[in-house]
Amino acid sequence: MIDISLDDFIALPVADKLPFIKDYAILYAQQFQRSQLDEYCKLADAARKIHKNPDGATMMEGLLTHRAALNFFAQPSSRTFLSFNTAQTFLGMKRMSVRDVKISSISKGESLMDSVRTFISYVDMVVMRHADEHAGAIAFWTSMKAHRRLNINGIERPIPIISGGSGTKQHPTQALLDIYTLEKSLETVGGIDKKKIMLVGDLKRGRTVRSLSYLMKNYKDVELYFAAPEEYQMEEDILEFLDNHKIPHQKVGHMADAIDEVDAIYMTRIQDEWDEGAKKDGHVKVNENFIFKEEYLKKMKAHCCLMHPLPKRDEIEESVDYVNDPRVVYWRQERNGMWMRVAIIAKIFNVDKMILAATDSWS
Ligand code: CP
Repeated sequence: MIDISLDDFIALPVADKLPFIKDYAILYAQQFQRSQLDEYCKLADAARKIHKNPDGATMMEGLLTHRAALNFFAQPSSRTFLSFNTAQTFLGMKRMSVRDVKISSISKGESLMDSVRTFISYVDMVVMRHADEHAGAIAFWTSMKAHRRLNINGIERPIPIISGGSGTKQHPTQALLDIYTLEKSLETVGGIDKKKIMLVGDLKRGRTVRSLSYLMKNYKDVELYFAAPEEYQMEEDILEFLDNHKIPHQKVGHMADAIDEVDAIYMTRIQDEWDEGAKKDGHVKVNENFIFKEEYLKKMKAHCCLMHPLPKRDEIEESVDYVNDPRVVYWRQERNGMWMRVAIIAKIFNVDKMILAATDSWS
């Protein structure tokens, strides 16, 4: 149970919400510690290896046949929706989705709390994407207050709520898959510790770059470069968080100036869906200083990786998609997301040990 009103819970700073959330939900990137991140990466690797073997894939599909998931996406999505769906399939879960709130009872004026309470009457996990930055907190509070509990290995738990993106602020599972991609891409040079990472584009409303910035508290001697036009620069709350965790950061006025210094480049799209009337006027054009050009590949360090959470538009020259260069990792990054989401679900339902134990048999 949760002994606090919804309004009081929403009003709490994230750090004060975490003792309530424990490992019952995934809502904020700040909730993760280094040991958990390492564990998730190991588990994602194990699932990926096992699944290559048909018998291993069958074993995985038998793990959660008694569990059902709802993927509730009140905002557009391709990757997060599909990768969660695929991950759930790989683990044998039953799946349902609500993708268009116009054909759900939300359109009749049902509150988010009542909708979530309805969802958790039917399923054992809700993955949700919502434009309201508090939607995850509302869903979690509702799940805590509701009577239904799951018994997972003798422990009673509320129905898990996993954020698939909340407003402009948080996309925690994207940040987890980004960590997995960074660790894999930088494996030969010691992983993320001591690396310089340049985040480019719309940092102000980019929930992926914000969540990834929070996770940097877990790594040693990381430096962040923020390459964005002033109107899209990283917001003060993130800068304050980084300062509190002694993570050096600097603004960059032209991404080309820092390319040869950094170990990873993380591009993002201008998130103009948040602009008033954006659709009528077409998409906002990207400032030239923040477009990744094919020629920049020559300046990048030999181990530097080029990432993007996708979808993208014109912030990366199209020819870069088809160059034969292993440092261009954004297409692999989206597949990494599927394995990371297998790891996230396996951990929640306590079948992670079975996956890890099976690695030797099936890889
Ligand atoms: N990266 C990401 O969240 O992509 P989708 O919007 O396609 O889910």
